Amino acid sequence: MKGTILVTGGAGYIGSHTVIELAEAGYQSVIVDNFSNSSPEVLNRIEELSGKKVPFIKADVRDRQALKGIFSEYDISAVIHFAGLKAVGESCQMPLEYYDNNLNSTIALCLEMQAAGVKRLVFSSSATVYGDPERLPLTEDMPLSATNPYGRSKLIIEDMLRDLPAADKLNGSDTPWQAILLRYFNPVGAHKSGRIGEDPKDTPNNLMPYISQVAVGRREKLSVFGDDYDTIDGTGVRDYIHVVDLAKGHVSAIDNLLSDNPVTGVEAINLGTGNGTSVLQLVNTFAEENGVPVAYEIAARRPGDVAACYANADKAKSLLNWQAGLGIKDMVIDTWNWQSKNPSGY
Ligand code: NAD
Ligand code: UD1
Repeated sequence: MKGTILVTGGAGYIGSHTVIELAEAGYQSVIVDNFSNSSPEVLNRIEELSGKKVPFIKADVRDRQALKGIFSEYDISAVIHFAGLKAVGESCQMPLEYYDNNLNSTIALCLEMQAAGVKRLVFSSSATVYGDPERLPLTEDMPLSATNPYGRSKLIIEDMLRDLPAADKLNGSDTPWQAILLRYFNPVGAHKSGRIGEDPKDTPNNLMPYISQVAVGRREKLSVFGDDYDTIDGTGVRDYIHVVDLAKGHVSAIDNLLSDNPVTGVEAINLGTGNGTSVLQLVNTFAEENGVPVAYEIAARRPGDVAACYANADKAKSLLNWQAGLGIKDMVIDTWNWQSKNPSGY
């Protein structure tokens, strides 16, 4: 066993896939989640896939007493912090809940990590911190901005985490903070087994779960938001990344933090493939590869959307020795495998 990793939000979409990859790589996970956007059934599926029970604590990450208990019970080597609220539209309607959950969970977590002397953190950031990109592909040193409260919560947390190693220097700390901010592009797909996958509680906001719910008959048709962008076919272009590749990126980040030569201070790293795919390319690939029709209509642009967004993924390769291995075909096939086996989710 290589070490014990506390995974906040480990019952969620990306967290559950990461717990499986951590187990494959020889790490023990401890999950803390309040099920605000996930189902307890995920834990059974994780046990089934990893062949062992993963310790689980049902708690809110803002609850410092609960965190204290976890750090005293388990010998935690590092933390991956997924827990948070993530719907852009909802964040515009209830900004305070978003700031409360996303900021206060991170503050409580870091305070308790510091108290326990555990100062190695992987944080779930997002490509949304690049705002409306000036140039593509996006490199980590490009200007950052936020266009909605969700994105702003990620930006504030990134800044806050950068203050921690600076304080270590002032305080002469001999166990300095080391944090990797992973900026995800567009996570899609599911585990090969079809036992875990993305299970939005309400109407999906994101493209891939919407496509798969149309394919399985839960929704009538997809609205394609705009076909007059300056892109290959006029529809929006994004860097879709398979969730299993993304999960492996977290294992590489943990390997780095626990190695003899970890990053110094705080490093932001893109996790993307570097390739752009349009809405219609994704819809057509889904229909062709899976042999299922996906009804769609062209609709107005969605406010706040950018024409195109994709990563330069070189830093992840050079610092973490990680790169995406799965392509669009794997993403649509694995999404459909999960959706068709679990038509109503968990
Ligand atoms: P998810 O909603 O499936 O998972 C988040 C998990 O955290 C859920 O299980 C939820 O119950 C839990 N949670 C939320 N607030 C909590 C709290 N205060 N205490 C305890 N548990 C709490 O989301 P996901 O897609 O797996 O995303 C994980 C992280 O990655 C989030 O921080 C999200 O902002 C970030 N991210 C996601 C995407 C994406 O497209 N999925 C893209 C970029 C960044
Ligand atoms: C959205 C969020 C972003 C978040 C990311 C991953 C917004 C403005 N941005 O990004 O902060 O990090 O999800 O969770 O919400 N599309 C359709 N029809 C649909 C849904 C989407 O045509 O029903 C199009 C969109 O216009 C876009 C593409 O599909 O061109 C991808 O959309 P989506 O999956 O929502 O991701 P992003 O907009 O990239």
